[in-house]
Amino acid sequence: MNGPAAGARRGPFISFEGGDGVGKSTQISRLAARLRENGQEVVTTREPGGSPGAEAIRALLVSGPSDRWSPMAEALLMFAARADHLEKTVNPARARGAAVLSDRFADSSMAYQGIAGALGEDQVAALHRLVVGEDGPDLTIILDAPIEIGLGRAGARGGNNRFEAKGPAYQEKVRQAFLEIAAREPGRCVVIDAARDADAIEADIVRAVQQRLGLG
Ligand code: TYD
Repeated sequence: MNGPAAGARRGPFISFEGGDGVGKSTQISRLAARLRENGQEVVTTREPGGSPGAEAIRALLVSGPSDRWSPMAEALLMFAARADHLEKTVNPARARGAAVLSDRFADSSMAYQGIAGALGEDQVAALHRLVVGEDGPDLTIILDAPIEIGLGRAGARGGNNRFEAKGPAYQEKVRQAFLEIAAREPGRCVVIDAARDADAIEADIVRAVQQRLGLG
C-alpha cells in the first residue's frame, strides 16, 4: 500500500521565516537531524521552490534586476510556485505522516510583497485564501535579528538576489512585518532572537517545537 495507514496522523508542517541571512538553513538542518534521531520522517524544503516546477519559477524570481516584475506579477509567481510546492511536495509528505520543515512559506509573501512591498495586504490575503487555504503551517518559527546582522551574513555567503538588492529600508520594513504577523497570530508563530549563537537559537526552537507540537 502506498498511502498512509488508515487513521495515520497528518505530519506536522513547520515554516521558518525571517529576513535574509538570519540563519534559517542552519537551524532547519539541526532540527531535521534531531527529529530524525527520534525516528520521525522529515522532509526539508524551501520557498520559492521546493518542487521541480516551483524551482523553475524560482529562477525567474531571484535573478534579474529588482524591478523585473510588477508587484502583482511577482506575487502571482510566488503563489504559482507555492501551489505547485503544496501539491507536489508538502501535502504528499504530510499525508504519509512526514514532518515538513520549510525555509520560508506564505508569511514571506505577506511580509515582502504585502506589508513591506507595494502590493498590499488585502491582495496577498486573497491569494493566500485561494492557494493555501487550510494547508498552511502548524507552527512558524520567526528568526528575528537586526538587518545589519542578516545582510552581513547573506553578503558573506555571496547571496545577492533581487530581494537583497532592494536596500536596507525595505529590509527593515520586512523585519517589522514579520513581527507584526507574529503579533497577529501568536498561536501559530514564535519569535526567536536570532542575533545569538546557533546553539542558543536551536535550544529555543527545540523548546517551541516540543511545547507547541509535542515533537522532538
Ligand atoms: P533566498 O535565496 O531563499 O533568500 P534567503 O536565503 O534569505 O531565504 O531568496 C528568496 C528571496 O525571496 C528572499 O529574499 C525572500 C523573497 N521572498 C519573497 O519576497 N516572497 C515570498 O513569498 C518568498 C517565499 C520569498
